[in-house]
Amino acid sequence: MENAVGSGSATNGEVAPPRKVALITGITGQDGSYLTEFLLNKGYEVHGLIRRSSNFNTQRIDHIYVDPHNAHKARMKLHYADLSDASSLRRWLDTILPDEVYNLAAQSHVAVSFEIPDYTADVVATGALRLLEAVRSHIADSGRSHIRYYQAGSSEMFGSTPPPQSETTPFHPRSPYAASKCAAHWYTVNYREAYGLYACNGILFNHESPRRGENFVTRKITRAVGRIKIGLQSKLFLGNLQASRDWGFAGDYVEAMWLMLQQEKPDDYVVATEESHTVEEFLEVAFGYVGLNWRDHVVIDKRYFRPAEVDNLKGDASKAKKVLGWKPKVGFAQLVKMMVDQDVEMAKKEKVLVDAGYIDAQQQP
Ligand code: NAP
Ligand code: GDD
Repeated sequence: MENAVGSGSATNGEVAPPRKVALITGITGQDGSYLTEFLLNKGYEVHGLIRRSSNFNTQRIDHIYVDPHNAHKARMKLHYADLSDASSLRRWLDTILPDEVYNLAAQSHVAVSFEIPDYTADVVATGALRLLEAVRSHIADSGRSHIRYYQAGSSEMFGSTPPPQSETTPFHPRSPYAASKCAAHWYTVNYREAYGLYACNGILFNHESPRRGENFVTRKITRAVGRIKIGLQSKLFLGNLQASRDWGFAGDYVEAMWLMLQQEKPDDYVVATEESHTVEEFLEVAFGYVGLNWRDHVVIDKRYFRPAEVDNLKGDASKAKKVLGWKPKVGFAQLVKMMVDQDVEMAKKEKVLVDAGYIDAQQQP
């Protein structure tokens, strides 16, 4: 296994170093699933905190899951907890004894944060504080001072500050989500300065994948392209097409998270492709790839405009490149094609179910 950190068992007669243990909040999300795969490939034991929902929502990690009855084979383990429940966070830290903690959990939808602002602040801002405090008190009680903490920060924090945005660019958040991420950022800096915690903020620009949630604009577009191509839908309702984003591939970005926790000293890093495209440009590439013209299908719907917009995000990732040796591998066009390819295949499977009468073609994502 490439760069394995040790299996904890004897191999060639020598005792291997113990396996590293990671704790991930938000393991069921897009990034959580890629980070889990990445860490398992490095030889880690991965523990994920999942919240209770009325239906299972583990689809993104089902391919890794091993039934607990075969627990000796499982290197990914799931536990119920919630960022709104401090006692559950402390309990799992004390039980799992992680070496690295990745705080990826969030109500991560910017537009939704205007609808549920206090919940967003509770999970995104106070949730991060609860976890930091749980880590701090766990270290104080156990003496396990080597624990390292990663905070999932966001380019949304830059808001209306013009690009290129780097680690020294002032924040000007434009949503409850972004303001909450700013609070989480500063809580993380504060725990580093006040308690000497090894804590890093990754200021990540937008990153997408075939596993992206279906109500983020990229995936909403590629799902629609697949369904339109296969004849399951004809219109796509969108908001502001002129917003510009620095879109990278999530699989590349989780490596940067890990690299931040492998440095001698904790610090904050911008992670970005340094290239920005409008939503309209995304439409051009996605529809054009399957021979369609987006103008024949897209309808502007005011409901998708936000009370305050972030117009232009484009990162300056020179620090991550220089210090971490990180760089993105997947470019914009390749990312769009990867997502469209998957969603055309998904639409073909949906079509079979529609034709058999199992689902309704009108059920749009
Ligand atoms: P995502 O797909 O929306 O996943 C969010 C995760 O958080 C899910 O596992 C979700 O669980 C979990 N979660 C939500 N509320 C929770 C709570 N109260 N307690 C515990 N877990 C909770 O987000 P993502 O795209 O993977 O992003 C990962 C992190 O990076 C987020 O913090 C996001 O804000 C941040 N970020 C993302 C991007 C990006 O472009 N993707 C860029 C910058 C920063 P359920 O599955 O149960 O909903
Ligand atoms: N979601 C959505 N739906 N966005 C639309 C739509 C639509 O129908 N039409 C236009 N947009 C525009 C939004 O107004 C925004 O300017 C842009 O598309 C991107 O929106 P999202 O894909 O929802 O992502 P985001 O940039 O707001 O937030 C994502 O990236 C952040 C990092 O900058 C999320 O992943 C955040 O969690 C993350 O922090």
